[in-house]
Amino acid sequence: MTVLLTGIGELVTNDPAADDLLGLVEDAALVVDGRQVAWVGRAADAPAADELVDLGGRAVLPGFVDSHSHLVFAGDRAQEFAARMSGTPYAAGGIRTTVAATRAATDEQLTSHVARLVEEMRRQGTTTVEIKSGYGLTVHDEARALAVARQFTEETTFLGAHVVPAEHADDPAAYVDLVTGPMLEAAAPHARWIDAFCERGAFDADQARAVLLAGEAAGLRGRLHANQLGPGPGVRLAAELGLAAVDHCTYLEDADVDALRDSGTIATLLPGVEFSTRQPYPSGRRLIDAGVRVALASDCNPGSCFTSSVPFCIALAVREMGMTPAEAVHAATYRGAEALDRHDVGALVPGRRADLVVLDAPSHVHLAYRPGVPLVAQTWVAGRAL
Ligand code: NIG
Ligand code: FE
Repeated sequence: MTVLLTGIGELVTNDPAADDLLGLVEDAALVVDGRQVAWVGRAADAPAADELVDLGGRAVLPGFVDSHSHLVFAGDRAQEFAARMSGTPYAAGGIRTTVAATRAATDEQLTSHVARLVEEMRRQGTTTVEIKSGYGLTVHDEARALAVARQFTEETTFLGAHVVPAEHADDPAAYVDLVTGPMLEAAAPHARWIDAFCERGAFDADQARAVLLAGEAAGLRGRLHANQLGPGPGVRLAAELGLAAVDHCTYLEDADVDALRDSGTIATLLPGVEFSTRQPYPSGRRLIDAGVRVALASDCNPGSCFTSSVPFCIALAVREMGMTPAEAVHAATYRGAEALDRHDVGALVPGRRADLVVLDAPSHVHLAYRPGVPLVAQTWVAGRAL
């Protein structure tokens, strides 16, 4: 069954063979065959199809690939946010508040909460989402968080090394042994990735390295939280280990930028975090100009950033991080897919999955130009409108 989407005022293809970053086609059409894109081009040249949908001049872009989120949790930290807005700084220790609430929640409560947040993301154009564990921090609670996440996505990440839980506070080394031993063993069947929070107040570079290497030995690929709260060794560790992505990158020294460029590790910027913690925004411009691949993601979590909106992150990246609208859209789609090592999503070219967003606007620029406005008119996943 084929569907011809026509009347597309502007189509973002992200075709890497195009001359421009977004591979833009104006007055475009796109043919969906089953789950995949079968054809893209000028509407005037479009082939016939079983069904026709006229989009009346709206823009179409690849669905957002949100490569960083922490959706499996219970409770909220609205009071912590309010205190921050009156001057209390963000600290990693707040994670323990959510750990207590998450452990106390039932499987059903966690599952329905994730379902709600994933639905919220879908309405805002996200078609692929990565979901981490990290608020269980026991063998049982990490494995169940990942089992819950797996019901919603293949991109699940084991983050047992999120923070040292209160019961291990006086023996962090024993906790790292637990994470790299029995916890990893229980988590690995439900996870594709392994992650750690390499930061003062969480895990140092040696601990993060031990976690990442143990994960790799268990068949998981690495990604890392680093340089969020201050400069540190995490970004260089990620580059040295050739990880797919290193996320946050709020505080970067020149040596970090050089290491990212030389390794090809993607820098995933999470501007919602700087918004919600009142930290300085990192410069996307500096990274892109240095030749680093930059992705954008939401980091949706109850502590440092409780937004599920990639359009909001795009607007922030443009306004606060020196990125052009085209760079920000590319970072939230094509680069997001690369950050997850996915070559089947992130672009609208023949053979890729037909995951797309129809905007109630004539061009991708409106995502930053009209911040806070719900512009996503339709979200399609694998060839079907949701
Ligand atoms: O990505 N940095 C570590 N983890 C989350 C925040 C977790 C929390 O505050 O609950 C983040 O910002
Ligand atoms: Fe995070």
